[in-house]
Amino acid sequence: MTAPRRRLVYLVAVSLDGYIAGPDGDTSAFPLEGDHIEWLVRECTDTLPAPALEALGLTARNDRFDTVLMGWDTYAVGLDEGVAEPYPHLEQVVFSRRRTGADAGASVTVTDEDPIEVVRRLKAAPTGADIWLCGGGTLAGALWPEIDALVLKVNPVVLGDGIGLVTGRSLADGAPFRLETSTPYRSGVVVNEYERTDPVT
Ligand SMILES: NC(=O)c1ccc[n+]([C@@H]2O[C@H](COP(=O)([O-])OP(=O)(O)OC[C@H]3O[C@@H](n4cnc5c(N)ncnc54)[C@H](OP(=O)(O)O)[C@@H]3O)[C@@H](O)[C@H]2O)c1
Repeated sequence: MTAPRRRLVYLVAVSLDGYIAGPDGDTSAFPLEGDHIEWLVRECTDTLPAPALEALGLTARNDRFDTVLMGWDTYAVGLDEGVAEPYPHLEQVVFSRRRTGADAGASVTVTDEDPIEVVRRLKAAPTGADIWLCGGGTLAGALWPEIDALVLKVNPVVLGDGIGLVTGRSLADGAPFRLETSTPYRSGVVVNEYERTDPVT
């Protein structure tokens, strides 16, 4: 039996006005409590960083994701707080043209390779689990043609300015996504799941 096609899934928290963080990278306006967090812990255990897993007494199953991709600025958020290996249960790939593995944790691969090429190689090696694009908006822009699905945790806040969900893309790049499910939570967060309608070839 052949393994299902491995997808690149951009799962990310976003404000009502389309920002994944404020101008200075601040994400503190996004609520960290409520029933959407229960969903996240239950259904997206693989996306929890190691300190959160430990605090909750959980073990990642790696059945939803077994690989995480981060731009350097996303990775640096944890690094600045002393977390050099945020997702040791996943294959961790960080994209940077200016940094090397010497700047990162031992289990983290830092690469200046074209993200598209890296993703195509990862997709060609089906493992049974998807690839999580953690962010940020810059890396999502670079990987836009390869993104198969979006899982947007839409928070009931307006940030007004900041780091966009996807940067460096234009109307010409289209919006080839179909809404599959939309789940409102009592917390005010709505989780929207989209699938690409013109599958990546
Ligand atoms: N709300 C959420 O769920 C969520 C999730 C993730 C991140 N965030 C937030 O997003 C912010 C970071 O997003 P961002 O868009 O500013 O940055 P980013 O995409 O995380 O990182 C940008 C950096 O990644 C490297 N990079 C990007 N594209 C590359 C390419 N094609 N090839 C090689 N390297 C590449 C470059 O690093 P070098 O400059 O080192 O070359 C670039 O400066 C953080 O504040 C974080 O808190 C929020």
